[in-house]
Amino acid sequence: MTKDVFRTKSINEFISETKQDGGMKRVLGSFELTMLGIGCIVGTGIFVVTGIAAANFAGPALIISFIIAAIACGCAALCYSEFAAMVPVAGSAYTYGYVALGEFWAWIIGWDLILEYTLALSSVAIGWSAYFTNILTNLGLVLPKAFIVSPEEGGFINIPAMVIIWIITLVNAKGITQSSFVNNIIVIIKLAVVGLFIFLGFNHVDAANWTPFMPYGWSGVFTGASIIFFAYIGFDAVSTAAEEVKNPQKDLPRGIICSLIVCTILYIIVSAILTGMVPYLEFKNTAAPVAFALQSVGYSWGAAAVSVGAICGITSVLLVMCLGQSRILFVMSRDGLLPKFFGHINKKTKTPVRSSLLVAVISSILAGVVPINIVAEMVNIGTLGAFIIVSAAVIVLRKKAPDRVRPFRCPFVPVVPALAILFCGILVVMLPTITQVRFVVWLVIGLGIYFGYGYNHSVITKARKGLLHTAAATGASAAQPDKAANGAEVTDTFHAH
Ligand code: ALA
Repeated sequence: MTKDVFRTKSINEFISETKQDGGMKRVLGSFELTMLGIGCIVGTGIFVVTGIAAANFAGPALIISFIIAAIACGCAALCYSEFAAMVPVAGSAYTYGYVALGEFWAWIIGWDLILEYTLALSSVAIGWSAYFTNILTNLGLVLPKAFIVSPEEGGFINIPAMVIIWIITLVNAKGITQSSFVNNIIVIIKLAVVGLFIFLGFNHVDAANWTPFMPYGWSGVFTGASIIFFAYIGFDAVSTAAEEVKNPQKDLPRGIICSLIVCTILYIIVSAILTGMVPYLEFKNTAAPVAFALQSVGYSWGAAAVSVGAICGITSVLLVMCLGQSRILFVMSRDGLLPKFFGHINKKTKTPVRSSLLVAVISSILAGVVPINIVAEMVNIGTLGAFIIVSAAVIVLRKKAPDRVRPFRCPFVPVVPALAILFCGILVVMLPTITQVRFVVWLVIGLGIYFGYGYNHSVITKARKGLLHTAAATGASAAQPDKAANGAEVTDTFHAH
């Protein structure tokens, strides 16, 4: 059994699975991928979480927190790029784990990603709600606090956050996925409001606000980094579009790395200006810090414009998170690690409606009653866990299969993956203990499900037992794995948008 849980699937098996039903249309180039990356990255992190991190942990040294998180993400992005170019299929980190480390680790990554995407929906929706209520307040419509924030923040339930999750879920369930064209427009709006903030805020920086620079010391700076890490999440989602890319070997690494570089530069500039405009402690009083900073120096119209742009931008992150969630559940169910309920595709809409509704129920309840920092920290720890395993997988596969063709090679292996593991590990350690405990509980539940269900139902196990003759076992009938695995008419077509 010990050996069994580390059984792997080959790259060819994964690639041939993607070709069933003719595969998806390959339309995306590196520019579109970079825009897609920025579309997934810039959202609640920069527009909301910066304020929390500056006020409570990093102070004006928030800029250093951003640089530390950027180093962790940059190293992990290079590792992701090596895999994305080598295994250009939609399962992203989960698939890389399957190829390099075997089923057990793939399950752990997949389980982490479920946590990441479900709770990211909640946290991003809470950020959306903050800017939405900010706009209403500016228009003179003040909603009762009881209905716009969680009990811990003095409210009762965050209704706007819950409602937006349901709207996004229904839009996605209908199969109306965001096209690359719409995404490009949203990204331009997003970049424009960030540019507007930089332009207006630049002249209102008062260097006095940068002292004391590190009010909470280095530990505050690192804790701040572990929290604003949230702002960088999303570049990994670029790799889930792998099956729609014209030239994945070249374009995927470019898309992942370029989107991360653009966002890092913007974040560093924004964090410097933000903490220079307003004394950091004042961010304790707002859930919409970027608009708040502009408002506090007299730009009410600028604050309104930023709020509208933030809402557009955050909505696009929500759409991607919602889609990512259904993809990961679908792929894991296709491999037999989750019950077929999760991979069930609605015949009419060609989307996994049932699993999307389940995710919406869970994430909307959490968005309604839990404060943003708690859910965002859980997202971070889940994502950091996945980054650590993917980085380790690069080192392992270089040893196991040194001659495999790698269209993109992560530089300085094992140094860069080791740095990714080190920095992500530090960020995990710096997260609050209660978050670590919750994560361990999540992992234990995951192990229970794997050994109670996934291990026995895995396509590979069934194939080995002779119950199935699928591509997973024989490599020969790659066109059939879904039917064989799930016994249902499951197809991959909902990816094709
Ligand atoms: N990076 C994404 C955001 O900040 C998750 O909303």
